[in-house]
Amino acid sequence: MTVAPSRPEPTSPAAGDYDRDDWASSFRNVGSELTAVALTPSSGTIPPELGGTLYRNGPGRLERGGRWVHHPFDGDGMITALRFESGAASLCNRFVRTEGWVAEEAAGKVLYRGVFGTQKPGGPAANAFDLRLKNIANTHVVRLGDKLLALWEASSPHALDPETLETRGLDLMEGNLAEGEAFSAHPRFDPGHHGERRMVTFGVKAGPRSTVRLMEYDASGAGTAELKADQKHSFPGFAFLHDFAITPNWAVFLQNAMAFNPLGFVFGLKGAAQCLGSKPGTPGEFWLIPRSGGGEPRRVSAPEGFVFHHLNAFEEPDSGSAGTLVVDSIYYDDFPTIPQGVDFRSIDFDSLPIGQLKRCRIDLASGKVSTELLEQRCCEFATVNPARVGLKASWAWMAVTEVETGNAPLQAIEKINLDTGERRLWSAAPRGFVSEPVMVPRPGATAEDDGWVLVVVWNGARCASDLVILRAGDLSEQAVLPLPLAIPHGLHGSWAEAA
Ligand code: CO
Repeated sequence: MTVAPSRPEPTSPAAGDYDRDDWASSFRNVGSELTAVALTPSSGTIPPELGGTLYRNGPGRLERGGRWVHHPFDGDGMITALRFESGAASLCNRFVRTEGWVAEEAAGKVLYRGVFGTQKPGGPAANAFDLRLKNIANTHVVRLGDKLLALWEASSPHALDPETLETRGLDLMEGNLAEGEAFSAHPRFDPGHHGERRMVTFGVKAGPRSTVRLMEYDASGAGTAELKADQKHSFPGFAFLHDFAITPNWAVFLQNAMAFNPLGFVFGLKGAAQCLGSKPGTPGEFWLIPRSGGGEPRRVSAPEGFVFHHLNAFEEPDSGSAGTLVVDSIYYDDFPTIPQGVDFRSIDFDSLPIGQLKRCRIDLASGKVSTELLEQRCCEFATVNPARVGLKASWAWMAVTEVETGNAPLQAIEKINLDTGERRLWSAAPRGFVSEPVMVPRPGATAEDDGWVLVVVWNGARCASDLVILRAGDLSEQAVLPLPLAIPHGLHGSWAEAA
């Protein structure tokens, strides 16, 4: 459990300032796999009612044989499990044993190209026409029945043991999925709008015309998750759908106005995702699929801009086919990419578009859409109380920049009232860098914002990660747990209650 030596204090940072080396020092290979290491708070106490596991996923291997990935999204998936029971906590972490990770570990070198631009050694000649996808299982991790699923949207999930994190292997969901079939990394957990708790998810087969498969699994039990609903619809255009939102009656997709020109990928010059380009001046489109399976999907014009992630959606009033559908999402002016030849660790933040939380109200009768800016500060990874998924929520929690305008690394957590705009901020600046916040309601809570927000923070001073437990109501610090691990800036994660 080696943690790299601390870095010296930067010379008196100004307000809103950060040391780029502190931020970039998170990009490293995870060197150890730990089992049930007890954690001790450096401040505060762990609430005894907090019982369950925080699972996090993200790139854990970013360099091999002296060759760095072109984009951190190309790093191999590494799962961290933080367990809480009776006021105590422990940590376990494992790489997902994907076919690509196992082969590259054995070879000691890069054998695969990455979707976001990582190339094999040897230049274009060595990369051209190698169109294999390396399923790196690095995007999200969720508990479903007796499985822990490590997700990567372009191919099958990997199943892991929820306790030991041992990789069981590629998982075809009891034969529901074809081999290699796309399975989103952004399932939504319906808290019970159709009776039982459900995991609603999708897969995309993209082409000149694209097919979206919408699947709903029973997520209420501890055993095998039954597939409760399954439908497919096709839409014109090359679909690029990373996330979606649900309401009791609708699955809501936002198809960004994107073009895909695969030649650079085919000829070994670019990663597949680098062949995506936005179509400026062209609006996006909402694709609305009725969840009950009754009725045809609808297409409605969406605002210009690029969306990776949605916060939530809801119906006003319980609309069904009339009324208003409200969809909150984080919009960028353009699709953010890292050009070939640029080292992601030295990226100029000012050159990247900022993410802003916006609310779209879709009038289902007329198809008219109105848009409202909810937060101008650059944000990502927004969430509501899990019991409010698909319903109107008053509060959201999200990762934001320390500065109010412009782009910078995410260093703070903001709680925002979606009706009044009231805000609270907890900041890890100048030397801390936040990841996606996960909101855990207090057992038996009645107030929507009663509970905790769990955040893994990169501690630039210690060159390692901390788990910070905030009180969800006022964002005051409940506890800080220094972790015996250096976890690179991660992607998504989830909370699983103790069985
Ligand atoms: Co995502």
